[in-house]
Amino acid sequence: MCGIVGYIGDRVALPILLNGLKRLEYRGYDSAGVAILEDLPLVFKKKGKVAELEKHIGNQKLTGSIGIGHTRWATHGEPNDVNAHPHASMNGKFVIIHNGIIENYARLRERLEARGVTFKSQTDTEVLANLIEYIYEKGQVDAELAVRLALSKVIGAYGLVVMCVGEPDKLIAARKGSPLVIGVGNEEYFIASDATPIVEYTKSVIYLNDGDVAVIKKDQLVLKTMKNDSQSPVIQELSIDIGEIDKGGYDHFMLKEIFEQPRSIQDTFRGRVRSENNEIHLGGLYEVMPRLIESKRIIIIACGTSWHAGLVGEYLFEDFARVNVEVEYASEFRYRNPIINKDDVVIAISQSGETADTLAAIRLAKENGALVLGICNVVGSSIPRETHAGVYTHAGPEIGVASTKAFTCQVTVLAMMAISIGRSKGLIDDTNYRKLIQEFNQIPEKIGEILSQSGHIKQIADKYKNSTNSLYLGRGYLFPVALEGALKLKEISYIHAEGYPAAEMKHGPIALIDQNMPVVVVATKDSSYEKIVSNIQEVKARNGQVIAVVTKGDTIIRQMADYVFEIPETETVFTPLLSVIPLQLFSYYIAVMRGCNVDQPRNLAKSVTVE
Ligand code: M6R
Repeated sequence: MCGIVGYIGDRVALPILLNGLKRLEYRGYDSAGVAILEDLPLVFKKKGKVAELEKHIGNQKLTGSIGIGHTRWATHGEPNDVNAHPHASMNGKFVIIHNGIIENYARLRERLEARGVTFKSQTDTEVLANLIEYIYEKGQVDAELAVRLALSKVIGAYGLVVMCVGEPDKLIAARKGSPLVIGVGNEEYFIASDATPIVEYTKSVIYLNDGDVAVIKKDQLVLKTMKNDSQSPVIQELSIDIGEIDKGGYDHFMLKEIFEQPRSIQDTFRGRVRSENNEIHLGGLYEVMPRLIESKRIIIIACGTSWHAGLVGEYLFEDFARVNVEVEYASEFRYRNPIINKDDVVIAISQSGETADTLAAIRLAKENGALVLGICNVVGSSIPRETHAGVYTHAGPEIGVASTKAFTCQVTVLAMMAISIGRSKGLIDDTNYRKLIQEFNQIPEKIGEILSQSGHIKQIADKYKNSTNSLYLGRGYLFPVALEGALKLKEISYIHAEGYPAAEMKHGPIALIDQNMPVVVVATKDSSYEKIVSNIQEVKARNGQVIAVVTKGDTIIRQMADYVFEIPETETVFTPLLSVIPLQLFSYYIAVMRGCNVDQPRNLAKSVTVE
């Protein structure tokens, strides 16, 4: 949540910062701001999107080549110009941008106020700026020491960049719990909360670890711990390309990402699902496979869409690996008193790899001795670094706030894991194993077939764009898909939507059904087909409108439903990968028709790094 960008070098900093902020806008869009160091720091900040900030700066010539910028998702203090970052300290000697939360900010503020320090905003970040300045002035120390001493008094999480007027040749960056990446150029450095603003300038990056403090001059980077011990920076190569973070001709990132799914699933398969020798091979799990095979219990932890993928994982692990599975919201798990055994395997699923609750749940599981695995998309993010082993999804950068391709790639990884554990346990025979792998390889092409019906899905979306409520139903593997379809609709179109197991409908939600209630039923041909046909009849008997996702060629539901979206036939275990696609498109088109900002829905941010 919130985006950070910084530059130090010989180029004019402003365009680099503004460009970077636009790339980071998916992390928060309540306000945006920049500070450029000329003789003094020039700070511009504005409520709203980066475009508002650009208007505010207008044609002013800012030629400084050191600068910082921030796009905010508000935690402390309402989104307005004053609370926007960067924040200058009272005497203007420091300017800072900050992601995360300073939990003891109120006490620190009180103490500073008692010593005569005044504040302009309600933010925790301004407290930090003033604390650094106070220590710098009173302690007569240099900026780096002032930052380290101030941070030693802070409880909470931060990724921050500090600019000091008295030491205009450097930026100071520090990380604890909120990611920071430094791009290494030729006599220039780029700093950001993720790699997206950096990739067009350099592919060489250094990921800061928790507790790192970096002092960055245009031609030198010194990395230390908070305790002033020197660290050797590890330079890594980014694997993403600039094309992956552009809209590539699509109207929205979300649409591009929906259409990328055949490729992103193929990338997730690559080198792992081998049709030539009929094998699934997950290199990242090689060393822990014996423990996975022996495990009596798997606990899946995640939030949001990743939790829905986890729920599909429960069905997959039960079916193929015959192991007990519990799927937990990370935010509930970590605050309960969960029973975690040393021989449990915990699987954390996260697109961003930075979700605060998921990270906290991982730490809890590790403290209790469980083997903790990660399924993550963002390479180098916190979750892969804090788990014992794991599998990357290789979906490519997901910029749209609504998760789409990450979901199908997470399910792909879970299916690969479940099948390979089942196979290693001797629970899947040769014929079935071969059949599964062959069908798995067909999934990208079958998704392509569904995508080619987008025009039809758009037409149906037009009929339901003015709904105020809707119900999504599914059974078995398709229940998590119903939840995911409902989440997609509500988060981007603001239409209230509920996902339910179809059989639960008669225990309450059926009371909602009338002629104005669209009911989206995910009803492909599987062992509970007859049952879901009965559920559709129950809806129709009460004049509800049914939009059904059905297997191609289905004639029974076609006669009952108002509209159908067809998906190609596949193995039941792979139906979530296909049936979710029309629901993603349906939500997308409805949201666009309602004039909503689908890539940046109100109140949301791409990665939730606050608890
Ligand atoms: O990055 P993560 O997968 O850990 O994020 C989890 C949720 O915040 C995320 O899936 C959220 O629910 C999306 N907006 C859903 O589209």
